Amino acid sequence: MRVPGFTSTGSKRPDALFGMGAPRGLPVRLARAAGAEVWDAEGRRYLDFIMGLGAVSLGYAHPVVTAAAVDAIEAGVVGPLAPESEERLAERLAGLMPWMERTRFLKTGAEAVAAAVRLARAHTGRDFVLRCGYHGWLDWSQAPGTPGVPAAISGLSAEIPFGDAERGRHAIRAAGDRLAAVVVEPVIERAPPAEWLQMLREETTRAGAVLVFDEIKTGFRVAPGGAVERWNCVPDLVVFGKALANGFALSAVGGRRDVMEQSRRTWISSTLATDLVGFAAAHATLDVLARDEVPAYLQRVGGRLVAGLAQLAAHHPTLFLGVAGIAEMSYLRPVTEETGARLARLAAERGLLWKRGAYNFVSLAHGEEQVDRALAILADCAAALRHA
Ligand SMILES: Cc1ncc(COP(=O)(O)O)c(C=O)c1O
Repeated sequence: MRVPGFTSTGSKRPDALFGMGAPRGLPVRLARAAGAEVWDAEGRRYLDFIMGLGAVSLGYAHPVVTAAAVDAIEAGVVGPLAPESEERLAERLAGLMPWMERTRFLKTGAEAVAAAVRLARAHTGRDFVLRCGYHGWLDWSQAPGTPGVPAAISGLSAEIPFGDAERGRHAIRAAGDRLAAVVVEPVIERAPPAEWLQMLREETTRAGAVLVFDEIKTGFRVAPGGAVERWNCVPDLVVFGKALANGFALSAVGGRRDVMEQSRRTWISSTLATDLVGFAAAHATLDVLARDEVPAYLQRVGGRLVAGLAQLAAHHPTLFLGVAGIAEMSYLRPVTEETGARLARLAAERGLLWKRGAYNFVSLAHGEEQVDRALAILADCAAALRHA
């Protein structure tokens, strides 16, 4: 195998999808995707709820986004000058979310969160960062002991638990005037408790630290203005990726003008951050998002899914502990790793790509028919697991 570890995206490894030692015959290589369906290299067709790991909220190959991307490809993809579509996108984001006073663009989520951390450190002149959730693969966010990451770097950040106001407050106060930033995912397996968000806002302000929302999964999904709008807490910086361009490579970091202006003092830049295709795809995605009121739709159709999953979990307490997540991104919580892995395998055998851990995502291409079909397949898998 020429790609060590099978593939360059960790969550697409067969082990990650179907558990260690999964039998042959499961789908492992993608051929193409359209709407809510994907075809594997063997030509088999699947109903999908993984949706490019949340990168796709309008459905795969959405015609409006595809047409915009094709135009951008025909316009030359890249050039020597900053694209006019870049400034226009920053302007548009500020219109949609007034807290996005300034925005910088990059390609991957990890890059954009790393940029937020760089800006926070430049702004505060401090080094230490508290984090909550997954923020990508780059050095600053890795736990101590990660091979290849210097201890001097992993020692500059620490994890705080999601939703726990008491422990979060304690960690922020203990970090004191070493604290540059608190970076959190606003949703981890449940909606954020109001008192946790309030604590984060108050304590970071008091500490003189920068509060960053990593909205790479929640952005353009849980509300037009993301988690900030939905749960009514305005951080200093916000990071977007994934659904921003419906699967095309684009990420963004934006927010308070004085913090963002640090971009001029430090160095954040990438050759392909300004290709025409990402911006064109993002503009088209935002068009569809507004026209079709996508976040409201995802909440409705995802609500139907979560209600069905909750019923299924209640029917099979020996298999499932319940449902985790919110309407827009959810999963069944299996009693054991093995149960989750076997569920994912059985589902794939029945034509459904279903993630056993965080998260499954609904899209604009998922209607009641797709949701009900997935629930029927999962019920069939659960019955098979019970009999086994
Ligand atoms: C919340 C969050 N932050 C950051 C990242 C990293 O994004 P990327 O994989 O595009 O670098 C992810 C990816 O799953 C994510 O979910």
